[in-house]
Amino acid sequence: MQTQAPAPITLIDGKQTAEDIKVEIAAAVAARRAAGLRVPHLAAILVGHDGGSETYVRNKVLACERVGFQSTLLRYEDDLSEATLLAKVAELNADPEIDGFIVQLPLPAHINPDKVIEAIAPEKDVDGFHPMNMGRMVAGLPALLPATPSGIVELLRRQGIKTSGQHCVVIGRSNIVGSPVSILLAKNLDTANCTVTLCHSRTQNLAAICRSADIIVAAIGRPEFLTADMVRPGAVVIDVGTTRVADPSKKSGYALKGDVHFAEVAPLASAITPVPGGVGPMTIAMLLLNTLRAASGEIYPKA
Ligand code: GUN
Repeated sequence: MQTQAPAPITLIDGKQTAEDIKVEIAAAVAARRAAGLRVPHLAAILVGHDGGSETYVRNKVLACERVGFQSTLLRYEDDLSEATLLAKVAELNADPEIDGFIVQLPLPAHINPDKVIEAIAPEKDVDGFHPMNMGRMVAGLPALLPATPSGIVELLRRQGIKTSGQHCVVIGRSNIVGSPVSILLAKNLDTANCTVTLCHSRTQNLAAICRSADIIVAAIGRPEFLTADMVRPGAVVIDVGTTRVADPSKKSGYALKGDVHFAEVAPLASAITPVPGGVGPMTIAMLLLNTLRAASGEIYPKA
């Protein structure tokens, strides 16, 4: 009897896909320049010295340079007051030279992130976190969409992964990833049309639900949480986790770990994103795309 060789696993290359998007954005920037328009300008506010946040913000600024955007990084110490941060947000809202800006999360415990996010002008909210953008997204109206969720949808689309009618299980209900990606993947759009199950810390029979998934999005922030017993052979696995775990063998002293136990799950999956090099670079590419949209007035026409 002949045994059939297992189908090769597709490693979903988020780094390359993000590069492709950045080339498209750079061309749009060149076209704006040629038309005598200002290049898009992104500002980022970073409070404190969280190692992960410093890396993310540095990568966002570098990505701006790469596509020809102007960028401004505003750094503050941990003891920055909420009132001073809100005043800075108001200043950026009013600055005609700034097309969009982000406030990197998490913020120190004495600052209420919801208050800060609500203070950002929706037309400059290139993270897509403001309730106006969230609400418009839910209603299916044009909106600045949150970067990681829209990056996941775009990655699936560009990879040619079928979503229509597929059962997608999202693990994690954060405002940044789990909740919005569950909404986007359920939309009646060619890029979505999934049947979505949103799982969280109180979900019962999580492993069984995951085993019924065609697509799993793991976004819980617990390293190597998704193990082989939770994955149906042939499933598509999207790993959103990026937890720093001590690793003395690395120069930096840490390794980035996803929410998926890659060594166990990859041989089962039909396609899987690596960490790093999967969803992370897509988040940055979609942030740049939102900034281009904010600059062009595509979602909220300029006055
Ligand atoms: N912290 C983790 N992810 C994000 C993000 O996409 N935007 C901001 N502003 N902070 C984050």
